[in-house]
Amino acid sequence: MFSTAFLDIPALQGASGTVTLPGSKSISNRVLLLSALCQGTTVVHDLLDSDDTRVMLAALRQLGCGVEVQGTTVTITGLGGRTWPTEAIEFFMGNAGTAMRPLTAALAVQGGDFTLKGVPRMHERPIGDLVDALRELGCAIDYLGNEGYPPLRIRQPALQLDKPIPVRGDVSSQFLTALLMALPLAAQDRAITIEVVGELISKPYIEITLNLLARYGIAVERQGWERFVIPAGSRYQSPGTIHVEADASSASYFIALGAIAKGDGIRIQGVGADSIQGDIRFMDAAAQMGAHITSGPNWLEIQRGAWPLKGITLDCNHIPDAAMTLAVMALYADGPTTLRNIASWRVKETDRIVAMATESRKLGATVEEGPDWITIHPLPAGKWQRASVHTYDDHRVAMCFSLAAFNADQVPVRIEDPKCVAKTFPDYFEALFSVAHTAASNIPVICIDGPTASGKGTLASRVAAALGYHYLDSGALYRVTAHAALQAGLTLEAIDEAKIADLARSLPVHFEGEQVLLNNVDVTDAIRSEQGGMNASKVSVLPAVREALVQLQHSFQRLPGLLADGRDMGTVIFPEAPLKVFLTASATQRAERRHKQLISKGFSANIDALRADLEARDARDMSRSVAPLKPAQDALQLDNSSLTIEASVEQVMVWWQSRQVFG
Ligand code: DC
Repeated sequence: MFSTAFLDIPALQGASGTVTLPGSKSISNRVLLLSALCQGTTVVHDLLDSDDTRVMLAALRQLGCGVEVQGTTVTITGLGGRTWPTEAIEFFMGNAGTAMRPLTAALAVQGGDFTLKGVPRMHERPIGDLVDALRELGCAIDYLGNEGYPPLRIRQPALQLDKPIPVRGDVSSQFLTALLMALPLAAQDRAITIEVVGELISKPYIEITLNLLARYGIAVERQGWERFVIPAGSRYQSPGTIHVEADASSASYFIALGAIAKGDGIRIQGVGADSIQGDIRFMDAAAQMGAHITSGPNWLEIQRGAWPLKGITLDCNHIPDAAMTLAVMALYADGPTTLRNIASWRVKETDRIVAMATESRKLGATVEEGPDWITIHPLPAGKWQRASVHTYDDHRVAMCFSLAAFNADQVPVRIEDPKCVAKTFPDYFEALFSVAHTAASNIPVICIDGPTASGKGTLASRVAAALGYHYLDSGALYRVTAHAALQAGLTLEAIDEAKIADLARSLPVHFEGEQVLLNNVDVTDAIRSEQGGMNASKVSVLPAVREALVQLQHSFQRLPGLLADGRDMGTVIFPEAPLKVFLTASATQRAERRHKQLISKGFSANIDALRADLEARDARDMSRSVAPLKPAQDALQLDNSSLTIEASVEQVMVWWQSRQVFG
């Protein structure tokens, strides 16, 4: 996840490949509860791993369900046909609304001695409408805190099922979902009717519930959106195996990507055209705009079709969330696009009509808006502007505008607060970058060169973290090369140069956070020692070895950008880098820092010896014939002898921002 203050997405040129989308949250928890209420075993594939599903799984275990987790596959042995627990159980529901509501209903209808609690915020989330409905049918539920809110205490019910059960539909559709999933427990010998009071909101979510109930053998009779009848004799039946679909709204960004980006097409794994989620109908709208879409069980493939895309006018009431993605596709169309019947945009995470209009205008677009509609005019080449997109703590605004990076003018797009995507898709940008591609010249590299122990590594990795960029520690590559050479029984001298270069060319090295793995073995400590540094220094003067490492170093230049640290980053490896910093510090300072570092790692060290060693190494490094230490001509010098790390990071960020101006 990108938890940086902003994410600069370089201008993108194409996209190809497969993205596997995470399982839908709403479907995951419904499937878990239904599997628990069945008799027998259900194998659930592609379950979303999130706070909400963990809470549900923990509760099911407490109830005595069999729960076996293997990655994203979970095997549930249901409670159907078994005796329910009679002992008192206290459930902790965290802040998981999708667990709290349906569990409350199921437990209340079944009866027992149950307490349901959550985090303080959960105790502020209303549940009164559901409790009222459950009490109406004879459930025994008490509020342990504030009236209308969790925590709750549930006892044995005295069910009265002869008259219709009223439930409010205009606050949260989750209350109706909870009743629909729980009441089959009580419908053995009589039909049960639920009556919705008020206009039912979020109907697509009720469709998901009804669809899933059908998969579990419960055929609810729907009369308009006002009455739902659970037939007499209803019994949960395990489907045996079930796949949790990926979130269809999340899929919309990759459907749009396939329609916009040049390339071999995008395959989306996890959701198909036969999805039970309302937002899947986004694919029809995308097709109308020009996308070529094919689908099979649980997958979609999208190719760019008409180009430019075709402007459309569409009533979007049935796809309110995914329709936002159309607004960005509209920038690439041949005429204006009008999205109608989107009044609900005004009351979502933010006023989404205002948000989409304001941010599209920042990019240069002409936008008109009304109370429940928006018209977006296409943005032709020559008119795109570099914009810093405000995201209003709205995951969908952030994901939508990432697609503006395919603009004809090849300007980058800044997304503010990128971590807001965590609400539904924490790894959205990673998924985007795994399929998007662009010219190397579009992917920024910031080089930090400088003498040994100047603090390059720390500075580079901090700046990388602040920008969400990759980090190349080129010194580590020389260290690992030396390590591999010694392991292979080679000397670190010129006579073995060709063999060491061969090793370097296909070095099986991986970085995992701070760890360096060679052939999947952790060699971090071995290469970070003083001896490791000496050895690296020896192989680094062998020209064939330097040449052999060039390609590997270039391969680190990946989206969205790179911080490269090492003496020749700005001079040899990335000479075109838009920002080069030459970091220096006095030998005394560097010796002190290195001393601290070594001591903290449990190595013994002597400051004076370190200092003498550093000075000797500087002299050698500056005068050596192969890759001598020297600043690139266009490098900015930064002497950090008397600067804190934070101040150095700040300075580099200021330089970088001054070269990356976003309107
Ligand atoms: O930065 P470091 O201490 O990990 O570097 C180890 C050795 O490798 C050091 O002697 C400098 C050398 N080196 C190099 O020649 N070129 C680089 N790009 C990085 C390091």
